Amino acid sequence: MYLNKETIADIKQSTNIVDVIGEVVSLTKSGRNYLGLCPFHKEKTPSFNVLEDKQFYHCFGCGRSGDVFKFLEDYRQVTFAESAGILAERLGLDLKLPTRQTNPAQVSPHQPLYSINQDAERFYKAVLKTTKVGEEARQYLYRRGLTDELIEAFDIGLAPGEPDYLYRSLSQKYEESVLMDSGLFNLSDQTNRFYDAFQNRIMFPLRDEFGRVIGFSGRVWQQSSGSDRQGQAKYKNTRATAIFNKSYELYHLDKAKPVMAKTHEVYLMEGFLDVIAAHRAGIENAVASMGTALTPEHVNHLKQLTKKVIVTYDGDSAGQHAIAKSLELLSDFVVDIVRLPDQLDPDEFVQAKGPEALEKLLEQSRISRVEFLMHYLLPENSDNLQAQINYVDKIATLIAQTPSITAQNSYITKVADLLPDFDYFQVEQAVNNQRLQMRGQLSQSLETGGALQTVTVELPVAKQMTALRRAENQLFHRMLNYPYVFNDYRLRGDFYFETPELQTLFKVLEQEGELDSYVLAGLDDRTQAAYYAVLEERLPEEVTEKELQELDKQRQRLLAQQDIRKQGKLVRETTSLGDQEAALIALEALIAQKRKLE
Ligand code: GTP
Ligand code: MN
Repeated sequence: MYLNKETIADIKQSTNIVDVIGEVVSLTKSGRNYLGLCPFHKEKTPSFNVLEDKQFYHCFGCGRSGDVFKFLEDYRQVTFAESAGILAERLGLDLKLPTRQTNPAQVSPHQPLYSINQDAERFYKAVLKTTKVGEEARQYLYRRGLTDELIEAFDIGLAPGEPDYLYRSLSQKYEESVLMDSGLFNLSDQTNRFYDAFQNRIMFPLRDEFGRVIGFSGRVWQQSSGSDRQGQAKYKNTRATAIFNKSYELYHLDKAKPVMAKTHEVYLMEGFLDVIAAHRAGIENAVASMGTALTPEHVNHLKQLTKKVIVTYDGDSAGQHAIAKSLELLSDFVVDIVRLPDQLDPDEFVQAKGPEALEKLLEQSRISRVEFLMHYLLPENSDNLQAQINYVDKIATLIAQTPSITAQNSYITKVADLLPDFDYFQVEQAVNNQRLQMRGQLSQSLETGGALQTVTVELPVAKQMTALRRAENQLFHRMLNYPYVFNDYRLRGDFYFETPELQTLFKVLEQEGELDSYVLAGLDDRTQAAYYAVLEERLPEEVTEKELQELDKQRQRLLAQQDIRKQGKLVRETTSLGDQEAALIALEALIAQKRKLE
């Protein structure tokens, strides 16, 4: 079975949107609809509606709406075709998806930069595979536990130790501006010649989330003799280019993304070799930042893809400090932490204990944010009573903020175990004080009108609509359900909707004969949203001639009013402009008169 209009209609026919959304959003029945917390924006009171009879969803908070395909597209970050594939699989159907085709109209203006990076990747891989120095570099990689398979899976290569080897092989093929902007070469001031930016390094290609090579990171690998090794960074990245922003990109995100869509979580690691170690343990949803600490840009990037991050940094003290820093940035995520034993990083752990042990560690040895901080903040000198008191204060705040009471109790036990001078009841007392204080702050801020929790109340979309939009929505609603109404307007010849999205839908309906999921998926988000806004209009089941006449009259009246407003504005604008001209002429005349007098 292939992806086409009919199969899409079949899939939609056999699927209930309530079931599909219900698997990931907890829904409660409310009248004819289902209600839950919107998965697309942060909210405390539910405004996410699923309309079973009409088979679509709408959030009154953020305005998102769509059918079951659209839901999966947004929730799992997949294409329309992929969403159809997921639903087909759910129904036990075997759907053959077309391979992702690149739309020639959408070719990036940076295409030459992607091409040159891809060529460089091919070049570096060939050097590693086929040269004598490549053989030596492979020995280095083998010693580090990599195999030919892993080298291939991560497209690892080698930059030879010569000044312009890559340049000579690519300079004929690309324009000078592309060579310059690629980040692969440096221009020497003295000789005015290009040199390879990477020399004598093991090369890790860096890809964007769509799998395109956007840059490289090169690692030194030879104990070079003498002083030239001195001051060389262990890893070196491509400099910032039009396609490479190291504060946004995450290593391996292209491969992690589809797994994140299923598991809804991602492992955040420190190094490339750690991600490769995770792969050896059968875990693909691991990413790493590229030579920078985690940035807010990284965090926003991840926010589009998942709600849960498992921080898996090195077990040494630098790693622990880095975790504490990341926790601040990751405050909007559910966070778990994997603590690696014996100061190891995941790569060293896999070497020492093997892939199965790493898999087990990653999946089973997770601790929560509070538990991590409980250990991280623990004073070194635990005999110092004042240090213990300060520590308990800090931890009690964190524990009091934990939603689950059973988790709170287990934390209290653990803290008491860690401290020689505190027992369970004393720690519990500190937590209770914090709870009271939090409640105090809350009621105080409510009394003074201050906002501790910002509650944004957004008007339902229907209330924000102009009367004209409303009338046009209702008219289109009738057109959708009553073909004779549609025909009537279609044949008028001079009819068009004032609302651009509705006009688009009207034209598409004319061309396609119906607006099904397949057709809708081809339209932009605004137009799709406009379609669902129309479906939401509550109109009597049966249409009457009177209603249609009223609707038409009202629409004409509103259009006329709008015209008058526009005309009025134009007149005001031109008159005030006219005034100015008149004033200028008068002023000139005045000056001329004065000159005559002098
Ligand atoms: P190996 O030493 O090859 O096992 O790498 P590692 O991942 O264990 O290295 P480390 O923990 O020292 O660093 C983690 C990550 O930080 C690396 O994967 C790089 O992305 C980055 N990094 C490390 N050293 C440097 C450096 O000197 N310069 C830059 N730009 N990034 C570095
Ligand atoms: Mn390492």
